[in-house]
Amino acid sequence: MSLFTKFASLAQVRASLSEAGVNPVGVPIDKVLSPSRGVIGGREVILAGTNNYLGLTFDPACIEASRAAALACGTGTTGSRMANGTYAGHLALERAIAEFFGVAHAIVFTTGYQANVGTIATLAGPGEVLLLDADSHASIYDAAKLSGAEVYRFKHNDPDDLSRRLGRLAGRTADTLVVVEGIYSMLGDRSPLAEIVAVTREQGAWLLVDEAHSMGVLGACGRGLAEEVGVEAQIDFITGTFSKSLGAIGGYCVSRHPELELVRAAARAYVFTASPTPATIASTHKALETIRQRPALREQLWRNARRMYEGVKALGLRVGPEPSPVVATLFDDRQQALAAWRELLARGVYVNLVVPPAAPLSLLRCSLSAAHSEQQVDAMIEAYAQMAAVLHIGSSARTVAASAVRA
Ligand SMILES: Cc1ncc(COP(=O)(O)O)c(C=O)c1O
Repeated sequence: MSLFTKFASLAQVRASLSEAGVNPVGVPIDKVLSPSRGVIGGREVILAGTNNYLGLTFDPACIEASRAAALACGTGTTGSRMANGTYAGHLALERAIAEFFGVAHAIVFTTGYQANVGTIATLAGPGEVLLLDADSHASIYDAAKLSGAEVYRFKHNDPDDLSRRLGRLAGRTADTLVVVEGIYSMLGDRSPLAEIVAVTREQGAWLLVDEAHSMGVLGACGRGLAEEVGVEAQIDFITGTFSKSLGAIGGYCVSRHPELELVRAAARAYVFTASPTPATIASTHKALETIRQRPALREQLWRNARRMYEGVKALGLRVGPEPSPVVATLFDDRQQALAAWRELLARGVYVNLVVPPAAPLSLLRCSLSAAHSEQQVDAMIEAYAQMAAVLHIGSSARTVAASAVRA
């Protein structure tokens, strides 16, 4: 036995993934040519595994803002927000985010992961309760571990199960924080947020929504699922990230409750880490303005998302439950998903391979962007069709099976 013994099964998974061809774990993107194109393993590919929903990573105004901030304030803050790491830019961005969400309070964190860990692990502590959607992101589960609170899960997207579990906490619901996400990152499905809000309020618990994949993507103004379903006023806390539709890195929590300022003072993931760089803050601020000023980006994203979802579904492949900028394709097992990933890469399409133990299912996760052209989306659908034919899955499998029966 040694410290390393526990890594044996992980090592086995890694070895099986890297047996032949490009290793999908942390595949290097040798060159990034644009938000939608890059070079991997010496060949140009369409990037469709990036979370770059609005394609803002190469937006000239964001790049210029970030360049100007680096020139004016330097490459890093070299300190925590609580010490020397709060610049005028951090405060201006917090005001802009609060105003965007129509609330009085916002905290900027260094990553989206830290926004969840900092907020959730501070809001709920020993003697209190966290009730998490079972499909919650790792940052939410890690926050739960760190919190010292009692942690329960309810069935994914099941308000009745949430209601039953809240019912069992009678007398303690005022000490309970319910956590859900807007769009779930693996299957691209949405939370039934109106029902979740109704159940949570009825039972007197608190509600936090992580809009990491839905901010900039849903809602008339891009504020996310809560805006889209008209329940913003009933949500206690919203967290999110700068690393997806905003095209940078960082995270936030917003709230109508003034106590968020106390969370700021108590959140270890805020207090004991360096603040985001001036360049990051400046490009994020510019990207936030862009979300407000260019709703056409969101419309283009959805045209691409629907086209891809319908195209892949028409191939008879197993897709997520609803059209979404995350188009998931499900496979029987890890090896089949890996083979599909390699077939797509060989045809110039880069998507994310997701396999156990990282997730319970083996799937390919294609994330669409407003920066994809219609031709790129069609090229991706064609690549999926060829992949399905090579692997004998989807309608191609049914065609083969039917012809085999006829023969
Ligand atoms: C739902 C969700 N929350 C939080 C995060 C963490 O965000 P970041 O990667 O910006 O730290 C992610 C990242 O993928 C996510 O999917």
